[in-house]
Amino acid sequence: MTAFAYSHGLLCAEGVSLPEIAERYGTPTYIYSRAAIEERWQAFEKAFGDQSHLICYAVKANSSLAVLNLLARLGSGFDIVSAGELERVLRAGGEADRIVFSGVGKRFDEIRRALDVGIKCFNVESTGELDRINQVGREQGKAAPVSIRVNPDVDAQTHPYIATGLKENKFGIPYDDALSVYELAVSMEAIQVIGIDCHIGSQITAMAPFRDTLMRLMELIDEIENITSLSHVDIGGGLGIRYRDENPPEPEEYVREVCKLFAGRDCEIVIEPGRSILGNAGVLLTRVEYLKQAPERNFAIVDAAMTENLRPSLYDAWHDILPVVEPEQESNIRYDIVGPVCESADILGRDRRLLLQPDDLLAIMSIGAYGFSMSSTYNSRPRACEIMVDGETVHVIRRRETVENLMEGESVLPED
Ligand code: LLP
Repeated sequence: MTAFAYSHGLLCAEGVSLPEIAERYGTPTYIYSRAAIEERWQAFEKAFGDQSHLICYAVKANSSLAVLNLLARLGSGFDIVSAGELERVLRAGGEADRIVFSGVGKRFDEIRRALDVGIKCFNVESTGELDRINQVGREQGKAAPVSIRVNPDVDAQTHPYIATGLKENKFGIPYDDALSVYELAVSMEAIQVIGIDCHIGSQITAMAPFRDTLMRLMELIDEIENITSLSHVDIGGGLGIRYRDENPPEPEEYVREVCKLFAGRDCEIVIEPGRSILGNAGVLLTRVEYLKQAPERNFAIVDAAMTENLRPSLYDAWHDILPVVEPEQESNIRYDIVGPVCESADILGRDRRLLLQPDDLLAIMSIGAYGFSMSSTYNSRPRACEIMVDGETVHVIRRRETVENLMEGESVLPED
């Protein structure tokens, strides 16, 4: 389905035109399509067929309560990386026993809370963490369910900042140490080893890195089974989406391949997709404030910035930028689409051929994942509002922040 398409010359989100949203709610505004989110989640779910499995949506991609709640209603599990994400999932109606907890730096209080509410599994990234979880388990008189995150030393062929499965990365237990860590874990009083886990990176657009990883993992599983039995294999997230011209596997193809590799093993498969569910289910609506000519470039200064989409500044990422009014002719003018933030890296798109006037509306595409969740208030910019469109109905799922909100909790020193 195409959740965002032109109809009668105007870009729409499902059945609502974007100028209508701009008029009622202002800009910049994130807009999501309920149908697009649900359809992508269902694509993963259906592809598993009879294979025992759990989809643990990676909350970091988009942690807004309405998004989490929609996924919880579908029966999704969740992959979290902090106590904050845990509370969000619980508030949104997610079930604790469908939560896996990833991340290299789990604090004592986070482990306590997660064990207390009864999460499905801790994905353990170091022996220090294992010790800590064991200690909390003893405090609470419970065996903490864990899987060991193995770093398979496989190149995910993605941007270095979002590659996690190489031995130079901080993530996971080195492949060669994994067996001895399993031996240690099974010897611990308040630890119950239930699985194995890996995650090699994000925006992966080919099947080969996943295949290589799973082959390595299976060799390891065969050896681990001599020590203890594993009830699930968590293969992480990372499946890419099309931002421009990438051709990543579709969820169906990806899941089918994974199931084929694990055929004959009596094991639940856990996956942690984030981007591949939310990425193309959202756009960022922005308005042109000024057109400005510099000696070497034309700039369109818009009211969104790196504060709303950090990805181009941080990863040199490319997002399509579409005019909201369907153009009747091609433009010969190229613009750098930039925000008002005082950083030269505040660029949302370079060299875009567009016909522009001040006040025009633009849609920055593929913003559903790692858009709002990486937004900031740098330059004291209140965070934008978030809208979920459902057919012809518009729901405000997060109201626009105010400058007053930004200063809440601050105080000045008492007078001398
Ligand atoms: N599981 C773990 C343990 C992860 O670290 C991640 C993402 C995921 C699952 C979900 O990966 P996904 O399916 O979304 O690729 N901010 C970056 C992406 C960082 C991903 C971090 N980890 C970006 O905007 O491209």
